[in-house]
Amino acid sequence: MERKKVQIDINEYPESFHEFLKDATIYDSSCSKEARVIFIDEGDGYYLKKAVKGSLKTEAELTAYFHKKGLATEVLAYESADFDYFLTRKVQGEDCVHHTYLENPKRLCETTATLLRKLHEEDFSDCPVDRMKTYFETVETNYRKEVFDNSLFTQKWQIGNRDETKAFADKNRHLLKSDVLLHGDYCLPNIMLNNWEFSAFIDLGNGGIGDRHIDLFWGIWTVYFNFKTNKYDDYFMDAYGRDKIDEEKLRLIAAMEAFG
Ligand SMILES: Nc1ncnc2c1ncn2[C@@H]1O[C@H](COP(=O)(O)OP(=O)(O)O)[C@@H](O)[C@H]1O
Ligand SMILES: [Mg+2]
Repeated sequence: MERKKVQIDINEYPESFHEFLKDATIYDSSCSKEARVIFIDEGDGYYLKKAVKGSLKTEAELTAYFHKKGLATEVLAYESADFDYFLTRKVQGEDCVHHTYLENPKRLCETTATLLRKLHEEDFSDCPVDRMKTYFETVETNYRKEVFDNSLFTQKWQIGNRDETKAFADKNRHLLKSDVLLHGDYCLPNIMLNNWEFSAFIDLGNGGIGDRHIDLFWGIWTVYFNFKTNKYDDYFMDAYGRDKIDEEKLRLIAAMEAFG
């Protein structure tokens, strides 16, 4: 991720964070409009995420859960005030959009697919979050709000208009299982590697117990998005293991994500 040096107004953050922020060099590391992520270059380094009140609660809970399993960074603070604030310790290495990784697409596919399969084999019996519940709720809510975009994934998954897509999703949603621990947003900027070795998963706000095809869908999509080709899909699916992939379920996820 590109990090840009920025000046911040310390008063835009609650007092409990001032000891980290004062006198530190700050870089912007945001990836989306929904949250502001800053890197605090002080000591071992910290990341502070700020977003709409309530929106980082699940992320804080799941990051702590993944940390216990050695799969995520340490959560140093979560505070819900005027906004939500989430402070983590910097993890070693770089995320997967770093040029070292993008220069080797096949190895990147194999690495991220293998890591995903390993994640999906983790024990999740004490996981606090049921992802399928919120996943289905989002489809319903956004269908009613007329949020729909069927152009997002046309390079691979063809789906119909809004009503056809909703009917297809409703008819088949019972096929989706709750049988793995999901990352929930399995995209290249959310996977940290240290010289090709796994370092940590980040951005876990959509994780929890759910169907593996959600992560598989985004894992394949993110490679397409970064390299603008589908020619690496097979590397990804072979490395994950075709025995566990149902391609029709990937189309079902595309249908549901059109309401995402
Ligand atoms: N604890 C951390 N250690 C190292 N890098 C981090 C950490 N947290 C965030 N980042 C970096 O900041 C970027 C944005 O953070 P992320 O939580 O994914 O926010 P967003 O919701 O904007 O995608 C990540 O892609 C990663 O490069
Ligand atoms: Mg992210």
